[in-house]
Amino acid sequence: MATNSLFLTLPSSLTGAGAGSASRLLPSAATTTTRLSISSLKCLRSSSLSYQKRSLVGRRYSTLKCAASNLDQLKSAREDIKELLKTTFCHPVLVRLGWHDAGTYNKNIEDWPERGGANGSLRFDAELKHGANAGLVNALKLLQPIKDKYAGVTYADLFQLASATAIEEAGGPKIPMKYGRVDVSAPEQCPEEGRLPDAGPPSPSSHLRDVFYRMGLNDKEIVALSGAHTLGRSRPERSGWGKPETRYTKDGPGNPGGQSWTVQWLKFDNSYFKDIKERRDENLLVLPTDAVLFEDSSFKEYAENYAVNQDVFFKDYAEAHAKLSNLGAKFDPPEGFSIDNNPTQGQPEKFVAAKYSTGKRELSDAMKQKIRAEYEGLGGSADKPLPTNYFLNIIIVIGVLAVLTYLFG
Ligand code: HEM
Repeated sequence: MATNSLFLTLPSSLTGAGAGSASRLLPSAATTTTRLSISSLKCLRSSSLSYQKRSLVGRRYSTLKCAASNLDQLKSAREDIKELLKTTFCHPVLVRLGWHDAGTYNKNIEDWPERGGANGSLRFDAELKHGANAGLVNALKLLQPIKDKYAGVTYADLFQLASATAIEEAGGPKIPMKYGRVDVSAPEQCPEEGRLPDAGPPSPSSHLRDVFYRMGLNDKEIVALSGAHTLGRSRPERSGWGKPETRYTKDGPGNPGGQSWTVQWLKFDNSYFKDIKERRDENLLVLPTDAVLFEDSSFKEYAENYAVNQDVFFKDYAEAHAKLSNLGAKFDPPEGFSIDNNPTQGQPEKFVAAKYSTGKRELSDAMKQKIRAEYEGLGGSADKPLPTNYFLNIIIVIGVLAVLTYLFG
């Protein structure tokens, strides 16, 4: 159903768009981006080849397959995102961008891209204009130069890479991400409006369950993911929620204004849960969908725990974030790939030695007593080890006893 598309961004001298103009940044602006649908050119991107070389080691392929995104370019893009974060403090809006691309997923629809999810559709005006996405055009503008630099990184991967990097750079947990998401190619493939949650529905708990269960997420994941509001602010001119400014936001960093959920709204920690539980500071925001996390008995169990146990929150958040980032995505290669040298880093798996038989026979209690008596006869005791030369004797004695046992049963 989906055709593979090659995007050629023409120089502004050819398109007539001024450098830095907003329209140049948006792929849906037909004046600036020429989109060629080339379904036959499956592996045109040179970017795919270095990934190929790596993944072909030790395997035999009759035909050359290609990946949606290139490993080396993803790694470089991550470094560029880190720079962007350092200079613009845009962590929160990048997290929101990744979440809103993925959060349209409907598990009841099988077909891609109709099922929605992390497929880069949020780059199109058609979807950016949805009420829930107000303000996200700014996040796209920030990322577009990185996208232009790395043609071998899909939008879908870039959005999720930016979000996970923002969480990690803000002091959050390492997210066990995978990459290789394929992009949708046309605005007609965007999901219809209304799939993302509303902040003030009549019944917040059932609304959250309706929306997140549709994505295949559960109560624990709803609560953990809501913890992302430890970052960022709400702006009345965007979502209609929050104050124009507070003492914590009036001087930025980044664009001043808005109302944050936490005091240090660029630091990822569990303060969101502490603050919405206490509700002591009227400078801090509590949306109806935040408040319900301490009102609904099932949500409350997790929220209470996260408020006192940051490690548990980090672990659950990292898992839930990775799951969210994969929703609805079509991966190429199908299993996706990691860009970390040690993909399990941050989530070390506990090493459990396999239990297997050695074929050794246990000494009987009588035999153990005999050996102990011999040992004590030579001057040794449990708390006074024998001098080294006695060990040789004891080994000889054990050997002799073993032979005798063998001979006399
Ligand atoms: C549970 C349902 C949710 C609701 C009702 C909700 C609602 C909102 C609203 C109203 C804003 C303010 C937007 C603005 O005015 O600019 C916002 C911001 C934000 N949301 Fe959510 N959200 C939800 C879940 C999530 C999830 C699951 C994540 C990430 C995993 C997330 C991450 C963020 C971030 C980081 C911001 C701050 C953006 C910024 O400062 O620019 N939200 N959310």
